[in-house]
Amino acid sequence: MSRYAVFGHPIAHSLSPRIHAAFGEQTGIELSYTAIDADVAGLGAALQRFVADGGVGANLTLPLKQAALALCAQLGERAQRAGSVNTLSLRDGQWHGDNTDGTGLVRDLTGRHGLDLRGRRTLLLGAGGVGRGVAPALLDAGIAELIVVNRTPERADALVDALGEPGRAHSRYWADLDQQGDFDLVINATSAARGGDVLDFKLPTLLTTARTAAVDLNYGEAAIPFLAWARASGCRAAIDGLGMLVEQAAGSFELWHGLRPDTDPVYAMLRQHDASLHSAD
Ligand code: ATR
Repeated sequence: MSRYAVFGHPIAHSLSPRIHAAFGEQTGIELSYTAIDADVAGLGAALQRFVADGGVGANLTLPLKQAALALCAQLGERAQRAGSVNTLSLRDGQWHGDNTDGTGLVRDLTGRHGLDLRGRRTLLLGAGGVGRGVAPALLDAGIAELIVVNRTPERADALVDALGEPGRAHSRYWADLDQQGDFDLVINATSAARGGDVLDFKLPTLLTTARTAAVDLNYGEAAIPFLAWARASGCRAAIDGLGMLVEQAAGSFELWHGLRPDTDPVYAMLRQHDASLHSAD
């Protein structure tokens, strides 16, 4: 049976093993998919042990998506443009890196949630691994403008430089957010609310109108504060990252196994689980 795993830190609560097990069952492909705790310093050694144990494919999550770049012998176009890797595939004993986050997000927003991204003025909060992953796909989907802000401004500048679209993508300081006008799409790609229950940054309500869709790339408890802000600000949609999670997983599954699973039943199963988790709170 071929072995796959998601690496990250923390990783214990990852839903990826359940998602890939469900995809495997649905498609009749036998696989083992586990969660492995690794930090940036330990990733190289953890991947070596994984390969020695028969590992052939891996997903990467916080905080490893940028660190993994250096461990890849080849990069796919999406990973190269994003400067961020969420999927590793072993080819001739070497890692090939790809990124399915961006296409996963765009599929979820356009397919599942019926959003038309074309011409949308978009604010991206966060330029870490996941922010980098989604930015090129948003531009490809036809958004009109991308403003990137990040707590550490140099990372926003670096992302915008890497995107190479000076006409459409710009970085701004967080402190200047109230001078940026309003947005059709506001995306939270920060990990600020992970492991806690408050957002320790401020967002002006001027950022949104009744047309704005707000999207948190986190899911579960970590998405609650931003989505509460979005609802309180009168946004027309407040969408969490569960759908993107399932779609990016389907993208990885397709890279590894050559066929795309049906994501709807898996999304529905997790959504039920997500709701029951919160109703118990
Ligand atoms: P991921 O893979 O989830 O993107 P990451 O690469 O560690 O993880 O990036 C985390 C993102 O959340 C970064 O944009 C980070 O900002 P910095 O680059 O300044 O570290 C952002 N972030 C984390 N905690 C935050 C906080 N309390 N306020 C604002 N941004 C925060």
